[in-house]
Amino acid sequence: MQGKDEDRSRVGEAEEGPWWKEGIVYQIYPRSFYDANGDGIGDLAGIIEKLDYLNDGTAGSLGIDAIWLSPIYPSPMYDFGYDISDYCAIDPVFGDMKTFDTLIEQAHKRGIRVILDMVFNHSSHLHPWFIESSSSRQSPKRDWYIWRDGRSEGRPPNNWLSAFGGSAWEWHEGTGQFYYHSFLKEQPDLNWWNPDLRGAVYDVMRFWLDRGVDGFRLDVVHFYVKDRLFRDNPRGMTGLTKGILPYDRYRHLYDRDRPEGHEIFKEMRTVTNEYPDRMMVGETPYEHGASTAVSYLGDGTDELHLAFYFKFLLARWRRRTYRARIDDLYRVIPEKGWPCWVLNNHDVPRSIDRLARPFEAEGRREARAKAAATILLTLKGTPFLYYGEELGMRNGSIPRSRLRDPLGKRYWPVYKGRDPARTPMQWGPREHAGFSTVEPWLPVNADYRRRNVECLAGDETSILEYYKMLIRLRREERALRRGDFEWADGSMSDCCLAYTRTYGSEGLLVVVNFSAVPQAVRIPRPAAWGGWRLLLSTHPRPRGIVLGAEDAHLRLEGFEALVLKGEGRP
Ligand code: NOJ
Ligand code: CA
Repeated sequence: MQGKDEDRSRVGEAEEGPWWKEGIVYQIYPRSFYDANGDGIGDLAGIIEKLDYLNDGTAGSLGIDAIWLSPIYPSPMYDFGYDISDYCAIDPVFGDMKTFDTLIEQAHKRGIRVILDMVFNHSSHLHPWFIESSSSRQSPKRDWYIWRDGRSEGRPPNNWLSAFGGSAWEWHEGTGQFYYHSFLKEQPDLNWWNPDLRGAVYDVMRFWLDRGVDGFRLDVVHFYVKDRLFRDNPRGMTGLTKGILPYDRYRHLYDRDRPEGHEIFKEMRTVTNEYPDRMMVGETPYEHGASTAVSYLGDGTDELHLAFYFKFLLARWRRRTYRARIDDLYRVIPEKGWPCWVLNNHDVPRSIDRLARPFEAEGRREARAKAAATILLTLKGTPFLYYGEELGMRNGSIPRSRLRDPLGKRYWPVYKGRDPARTPMQWGPREHAGFSTVEPWLPVNADYRRRNVECLAGDETSILEYYKMLIRLRREERALRRGDFEWADGSMSDCCLAYTRTYGSEGLLVVVNFSAVPQAVRIPRPAAWGGWRLLLSTHPRPRGIVLGAEDAHLRLEGFEALVLKGEGRP
């Protein structure tokens, strides 16, 4: 099955560089995308039905190049699939292997690559490996997980905490030792120091690569390796909650991000290199700087292909902050490495609300969301979108009785968990938003009658059509896909960001107004441009744009973003 060359031919024709540098990746949370069999939970057959929406080769579809599926493997769903009990099968709630093969075939036919989410820091406690490992201290798989004696009677081996709360050590009565879990106790950590475990994981990768999968999103790569000596972490305020959660009251020197991880990423790269054209993108720490994010790329050719840089995602909507985050990543990316950019995923509140001010009107939120999309899709690097982002889907408001995320249940009401970003995709104005014929696993957002694919498609002022235009522009303009990046806002107002993307004689200029009020700016025409014209604006009727021979005088509305194109050399 390796290669599936016929299927790939159409994918190959359309592109110039590796697809994972030139394309746009769209994350699907399968439970919430489309329910084809009417049980209230999204499934693989549902994804197949909606492939044409994602890319049918015409300007009417979204036009993305790859989908990343959050986990679809058998799982007891304590963490909704991020607790895998069989790495080489499909959970019946999502479908079966035949449907999965059809999905690959149908996606490839449309030029859509398929990336699977792989959770190799831990498995489910119901994975046969863990059942075997916990059966006795003499088990041949004992060392595939992390087992330790207590420091003394009843005391865990060290002070390491679980990122999801409480000690990371769980007492196992049957064999009289503790096992280690970075997340839930139902998610025991694999022991990456064990060579047989490593080999087994690489075989899992080959299993899916042989089936034609185009790559992997790798869950929490910074957690894989733990300190060999199990040294205590020192105290110190860290992390996103700045010490509100006990986990963030320690510096995670020994339980995460050990230097030996790089050896593993190199081995993984060797495995993926056995297959043509595959890609790995790593989930990295949210709270660390760009240099940590790019460290997983090695020299840019020998470890992961891409690594998320979440400080950009977490940035507040301020020109200065965005500029600094963008600079941070470009400054440290290895010469042969490639950046990627993301604003949303299944773990964080939706950006349309996260970037907004409290109680801000819907129109402003949406205007800002369009401006943010303009940045995301015109930077140098691979953009990642999250299902529903293109509709401007808001955070769901989930009553306590309907919470599903274990984090929401544990920390409610201080933290309501991740369910709000995982509500059903809004397909149409019908009951259950056209997602399912029955009550979905999470409630549909209240605004679904207006905000849905059917109502927004074809309305040229809608956020959906704006995403489509941006995606099309990126496809048409080589300068956006691979051109150099340079700031062009040196002398501009404090509210506006501007940069150029240039490839040979082709060039584009992007200008974004971060403020809610109109701004007038003047931008000198880049020396290499003979003339220029307006290609795109977030506003239906941009006004006050004078493109002179020397410079442009631009009046940008609140949260307006513009893309100009340079024409020929003088
Ligand atoms: C990161 C995943 O994105 C998140 O959803 C999950 O809960 C944790 N890793 C644990 O696997
Ligand atoms: Ca279903």
